[in-house]
Amino acid sequence: MKIGIIGTGYIGLTEGLCFASLGQHVICYDIIKEKIEQLNKGIPTLFEENIETLLKDNLAKKMIEFTDDLEVVMKGSDIVFLCVNTPEDPDTGECDLSQILTSTKSIAEMSDKIGNKFFILAVRSTVPVGTNKKIKENMLKINRKLNYLQCSNPEFSRQGSAIYDFMNPDRIVVGVDDEKSKEQMGLVYKPLTDKGFPIFFTNIETAEMIKYSSNTFLNIKICFINEICDICEKTGANVTDIAKAMGMDKRISPLFLRPGPGIGGSCFPKDSIALSKIGKKLGLSLKIIDASVDSNIIRKNSLADRVIKLSKGKSLEGKTVSLLGLTFKANTDDTRYSPALNLVEELSKKNAKVHAYDPHGTEKFKYMVDPKALDSIQFFENAYDAVKDTELLVIITEWDEFKILDYKKIYQMVKQKIIVDFRSILNEKEIEKIGFKYYFIGKDLSKI
Ligand code: UGA
Repeated sequence: MKIGIIGTGYIGLTEGLCFASLGQHVICYDIIKEKIEQLNKGIPTLFEENIETLLKDNLAKKMIEFTDDLEVVMKGSDIVFLCVNTPEDPDTGECDLSQILTSTKSIAEMSDKIGNKFFILAVRSTVPVGTNKKIKENMLKINRKLNYLQCSNPEFSRQGSAIYDFMNPDRIVVGVDDEKSKEQMGLVYKPLTDKGFPIFFTNIETAEMIKYSSNTFLNIKICFINEICDICEKTGANVTDIAKAMGMDKRISPLFLRPGPGIGGSCFPKDSIALSKIGKKLGLSLKIIDASVDSNIIRKNSLADRVIKLSKGKSLEGKTVSLLGLTFKANTDDTRYSPALNLVEELSKKNAKVHAYDPHGTEKFKYMVDPKALDSIQFFENAYDAVKDTELLVIITEWDEFKILDYKKIYQMVKQKIIVDFRSILNEKEIEKIGFKYYFIGKDLSKI
């Protein structure tokens, strides 16, 4: 089966490579010419585990190609996966469908040119319920003779483990309203279903809602444990043990119960806001979803105050904080909605300076951070240069390399011997033995 991918971002690129590795011929399309040139040379345009090897291997085997010519992808594909971004509209908070509408318009206009060749459009981007219907109406309005079928096929891959997640899905969800799409989508995922991974067919609206419900539920789960963590810090209860014991209950599961600095990334925050907006449009009051949106914003905006409180309550005005981590989680270079953005911007408002280091996220962070905060931050090539002569050290992303730094050496380099660890990645006893005051997320602060 020949596969086309529209939009070569995190999902389009990783999944295009996965389909190619499963033996399908893949053509990836993107409007950004430089991106296509780079990918055709075998140079990944984003950081993701194993991506370079997969890219080089599949290019060498001629299983994947990249193009900025829509005609090439439409001519050469039986199933076209729509993987363009659906970001948050900065004015309304709703899901911005402009990339979806532009690309599907181009597909509909292109069809005559390729003799109205049949194809299936699988909408992989996260879209509000009812969007597939709207896409179909628009496409048929543009080209009444359009010879195609459409289905909804939401993705559930996490950045940082996107390739593993695609190859080992908990479930593949496909929303269809015709038998042929069901059969063809079943065939395209056969290499995975043959290994025992389940495929779940439903109607299109349900598939759209499964994606939003899954992301928003996980968002609520993390917000919940973050609030439990706040209670623990004031009472001496141990949040790690609580999460472990809760997770032993099969109805709860231990996953996504790790407290931290607040939820980032391009999915949970945006999808929870979008679902809340969907509820408002439907005249519904979605109190739990709305509360999770607020809870997460409050948490991320309070990070700077937490750091100041832990810095013996002293103002950090004119002082420099070192920051390890800029990405919203480890193993990605993505900084969208990263808690590090809130921390840096708040510290900058309080006239503190930041020396930051991240293994892969610096360039994207520079692009994302409020330009007003850029003057207060200096970026470094390694952790030791970043911590040198700073007031105290903050860890905000759980990169493995931060777990094995030489903290005895760092002890000599920071002024106040304080580490604030928003991911609880260090060993409390070992760090305190060196002489640090170690504040990790969930630590009993009741006696301080
Ligand atoms: C999320 C979902 O997990 C994927 O299933 C989904 O496909 C994807 O969104 C999407 O919609 O495309 P992602 O945003 O890449 O994936 O990353 P997650 O691993 O889910 O983490 C999201 C945020 O929650 C991160 O800031 C992470 O640090 C935080 N988190 C996660 C916690 O604070 N605690 C946890 O226990 C788990």
